[in-house]
Amino acid sequence: MPEVDLSVNLAGMTMKNPVCVASGTFGFGREYNELFDLSELGGICAKGLTLHPREGNPGPRIAETPMGILNSVGLQNPGVDAFIATELPFLRQFDVKVIANISGNTPEEYGIMCEKLAGAGVDMIEVNISCPNVKAGGLAYGTRPELAAEVTEMAKAHAGSVPVMVKLSPNVTDITEIARAVEGAGADALSLINTIRGMRIDVNTRRPILKMNTGGLSGPAVLPVAVRMVWEVAQCVKVPILGMGGVAKGEDAAQMMLAGASAVAVGTALFADPFTPIKVREGLREIAEKQGLAAVRELTGGVRPWS
Ligand SMILES: Cc1cc2nc3c(=O)[nH]c(=O)nc-3n(C[C@H](O)[C@H](O)[C@H](O)COP(=O)(O)O)c2cc1C
Repeated sequence: MPEVDLSVNLAGMTMKNPVCVASGTFGFGREYNELFDLSELGGICAKGLTLHPREGNPGPRIAETPMGILNSVGLQNPGVDAFIATELPFLRQFDVKVIANISGNTPEEYGIMCEKLAGAGVDMIEVNISCPNVKAGGLAYGTRPELAAEVTEMAKAHAGSVPVMVKLSPNVTDITEIARAVEGAGADALSLINTIRGMRIDVNTRRPILKMNTGGLSGPAVLPVAVRMVWEVAQCVKVPILGMGGVAKGEDAAQMMLAGASAVAVGTALFADPFTPIKVREGLREIAEKQGLAAVRELTGGVRPWS
C-alpha cells in the first residue's frame, strides 16, 4: 500500500503534515527541541507577541480543572523585536513553518507588528483578536464583528505577501458572525478556538484560585465545543481553518478535520505529554490508512451530518 500523503495546504502555505503546536503552549520551541526534532511538526504557532515586552499577569495564573486547565498568563513575551532578533533565527534552523502570533492594543499596533514580521520573513501571521481594545474601553476585538474586521484590514494592509490568519474567540454567541466579518476584511485563514472564559474558587478561603479571578479554559474538556465551532465556521466561510482546542490524539484531530479544518494545533495536551503532536500525527496517519485514503487532507470537511 502506498504511503498516505500527510501534506496539507493552509492559505498557500504547504506543511508536510497537518499538526502544528498552539500559540502560548510551546514557547519559541527551545525547551521542546531538547526532546524532539522540531522538523517533525507541520508548523509552530509561536508564543503570542506584543509590540513591547510584557511581564504578564501576577500568579497564580494556571489552575488545573477536570480534563483541562485555566490560565491567565497575560501574554508574557519579550516583544516583537526580540523575537525577530533571537527566536526567529533559532526556529529557522528547522524544516517547519513558522507562524508568528500577535496581539495589539490598537489596530495600529497590529499593523506595525505585521510590517516587522513580514519583513523578517515569517511564513504566516496569526492575529489574536482576543485582547482588549483599549480605545473601545477594554472590549475584546474578537467579540465585535466591526472591530475584528478593522484589525484584520490593518494586518492585511501591512503584511505584504505573508498570509494572515485570524484567531477567533469562542466567547461569543455566534462565532460565524465574526468569522464572516474577518473573511470579508481579507483574512487568508482562520484559527479557532482560543480559550473559553472560566473560573475556579477555593471554598475555604472563598478566593478565586487565579489572581486575575477568571482565566481561559483549554485542554480535552473544550474539544467538543471546538469541533462544533469549527463545523459551524467551515459552513459559512471559504478560507481554510486551523482547528484547535483539546486535541490530544489522532482521533481528536480527525474530528477537527472532518468538521472542516485543513490542519490542527495541539496546545494544552503538550503539558501532560510533550510528544503529543507526534502521536497525533501518527494517529492521523493510521486513521487515513484504515480508511483507505491516499491523503490525510481528504478528511477535511468530510463529516456526514444527520439531515
Ligand atoms: C498557557 C497558555 C497560553 C496561551 N497563550 C496564547 C497566546 O499567547 N496567543 C494565543 O493566540 N493563544 C494563546 N493560548 C491559546 C491556545 O493557543 C489555544 O488556542 C487554546 O489553548 C486551545 O487549545 P488547547 O485546548 O489545545 O490548549 C494559550 C493557551 C494556554 C493554555
